[in-house]
Amino acid sequence: MTFNKMRNSITISFSLLLIAGVSYAANESKKVDADAEDFNCLAEMTATGNFFVDNLLGNLPATVAAASSDDGGRYPAGSVVSLIPTEVMLKHNAGWNADTNDWEFIELTVSAAGSVIKSRGTTEVINQFGGNCFDCHSLARPEWDFVCGTGHGCAPLPITRETIIGIQKGDPRCSRKE
Ligand code: HEC
Repeated sequence: MTFNKMRNSITISFSLLLIAGVSYAANESKKVDADAEDFNCLAEMTATGNFFVDNLLGNLPATVAAASSDDGGRYPAGSVVSLIPTEVMLKHNAGWNADTNDWEFIELTVSAAGSVIKSRGTTEVINQFGGNCFDCHSLARPEWDFVCGTGHGCAPLPITRETIIGIQKGDPRCSRKE
């Protein structure tokens, strides 16, 4: 390798490193901080239709408005959505992740002691039945912002409404002593 070629390749590698570093930082700067304690018993959240919502940034009215809308809507940053205790979606600030409309998919382990985060991420998170959260939720038509609900374009879950309600009522975190 001539000196010039070597210099060019070093410059290119260094630039790639910089680009990667910068995009990671931009991503992280849009993050809404949340850890296991932020994911409460469903009964402590707000019921909207079949699922439950919360907002970690104090903007609950806008989250409830999106969840209650008849024709879709973009959920505001800080939104937390849950149908069953172990599966949660968290909305980060605009620009956090373009593929998921800034949603993070989170799988929890829940017990009377509270929530523990089992896995969290964007397009790669797998639930306890081996299904990829993003693959199913990305089938929701764009106006529904990845929320499947019913009739939004996702394939239905293979469990009945009664089973879902049973799982919701059995949330073990609700019996937790504060
Ligand atoms: C097999 C497809 C599938 C997989 C895999 C899946 N979901 Fe869902 N999810 C659905 C459907 C369909 C609904 C709506 C069910 C209903 O209300 O009847 C739903 C509902 C939800 C809801 C309530 C809001 C909504 O979209 O209606 C949340 C939150 C959620 N899922 C999170 C997750 C997370 C987190 C994962 C991965 C750990 C996951 N889901 C994996 C299909 C799936």
